[in-house]
Amino acid sequence: MVERRGVGRGRPASFGNRMSLARPVVIGNWKMNGLRADGLARAEALLDRLARAPDEGTLGICPPATLLAPIADRIGGQGLLLGGQDCSSERKGAHTGDISAAMLTDVGCKLVIVGHSERRHGHGEGDALVRAKAEAALQAGLDVILCIGETEEEWQAGRTTEVLDRQIEGSLPAGASAGRVIVAYEPVWAIGTGRTPSTVDIGRTHAHIRARLVDLVTQGADLRLLYGGSVKAKNAGEIMAAGDVEGVLVGGASLDADEFWAIFEAGRASGRG
Ligand code: PGA
Repeated sequence: MVERRGVGRGRPASFGNRMSLARPVVIGNWKMNGLRADGLARAEALLDRLARAPDEGTLGICPPATLLAPIADRIGGQGLLLGGQDCSSERKGAHTGDISAAMLTDVGCKLVIVGHSERRHGHGEGDALVRAKAEAALQAGLDVILCIGETEEEWQAGRTTEVLDRQIEGSLPAGASAGRVIVAYEPVWAIGTGRTPSTVDIGRTHAHIRARLVDLVTQGADLRLLYGGSVKAKNAGEIMAAGDVEGVLVGGASLDADEFWAIFEAGRASGRG
């Protein structure tokens, strides 16, 4: 059964009563892609489809920072969530090039990704910094998508659960509650490679993450869990049918509105099955 709670089309794009992010949760991470013309066109194509679709599920996009303001203007009160790709752990001040969580809220964002592997590995961000960013985001009123995931080497060495445990314990923000914190499992070796774990492995890993969350936080059973890494229209349905997978975080395939919409549809269909 698909839950019909959550973000309604006519209401402002927010997580509603905070306990109720409607499944499936499908979020597009555009990374460093998009100029004004193609970014706006993509956002408009999604808004157009949302306006004609049944009110099921949660769809969101995380465009580059330069596109947040123009896209927020176009979205208005319609139910497409807008998010940042990263934020500073600091509130304000002399941090050249950084963007604070309050700035993201101010421009119309409802959520922010923290701990993405391209930040952890490309920018040397460790668990403590990721946690500080997540806490700054929560304080500024943003909901958080916390990314975790093992490298190929760790995966091959059978160290996946050990690495995930360390990342969860080290970067889960204090006061993580359902509806405000989403955990995204993204194996580093699956990002942008066209390779994914089997759905059995994804289900197993998510069950492990769920158990750790239940140990660590009061609402651990209710936190949303997403999978990310080479999600496409053709594999999205089976991935979202796996146990404890409540949605997906999509990189490359979110740059094509048709493909991204097909992923969302596949998730909705998998919830009905
Ligand atoms: P991908 O990226 O879908 O291009 O593999 C996923 C991500 O980095 O979130």
